[in-house]
Amino acid sequence: MNRPDPSAPSSIPGYDYGTPGSAVSSVTERDLSELEQAAGWTARDAEVLARHADVFRANAESMVDAWRSVIGSQPHLSRWFVGPDGKPDDEYKMSIKRRFVQWVIDAAVRPHDQDWLNYQQEIGLRHTPAKKNKTDAADTPPLVPFRYLLGFIPVVLPIRGFFKDAIQDEAELNKLQEAWTKAVLLHVTLWSRAYVAEDLW
Ligand code: HEM
Repeated sequence: MNRPDPSAPSSIPGYDYGTPGSAVSSVTERDLSELEQAAGWTARDAEVLARHADVFRANAESMVDAWRSVIGSQPHLSRWFVGPDGKPDDEYKMSIKRRFVQWVIDAAVRPHDQDWLNYQQEIGLRHTPAKKNKTDAADTPPLVPFRYLLGFIPVVLPIRGFFKDAIQDEAELNKLQEAWTKAVLLHVTLWSRAYVAEDLW
């Protein structure tokens, strides 16, 4: 199984996975385990994603491009990438894209350990005024409203189309789609921690 080497320095600017630059999550391993159980996430889901890590690597950029074209087609979504001059901040968008592509791969291969939990807290914060724009020293609106984080989930869920050439076995494709669905829901649920009062989460 291909695992990322945690000791290798990342060449992606602002990608602070497993570094002191990442936020620290207050979610405990027990909280996580119970959340995973609630979502029906099991070791088999982790295995099926990891089994197709190479296909995720090969398709991650196309997936992100497809999702971002949805954002680009809706002004109430693309406005969160616009600078004070009223134009899209292309440098900001490019920088985010590299980390977004890496997220797709990470979602498939990273173990759900403390570094993973911590970086989910960081990603959540990067959608809120606490950290939005900070990583890239950008000057765009300071918040992605939480309703859009949830509302966008149906856009990133269907991945069969990206994998159907590489995986001919329909049952395997179904397993992959199910595992990805649970993985996305777990990620966004952990990101919600940055928006929700601790005693309400
Ligand atoms: C389920 C839906 C979503 C997923 C999976 C997702 C995923 C991500 C990821 C992986 C990153 C990069 C994190 C990093 O820095 O390592 C990111 C950043 C970002 N996302 Fe999202 N996102 C979602 C919804 C949205 C929506 C709906 C918008 C706006 C319309 C949005 C706007 C942004 C922006 C502006 C950043 C950069 C924040 C910053 O660091 O300044 N995201 N997102």
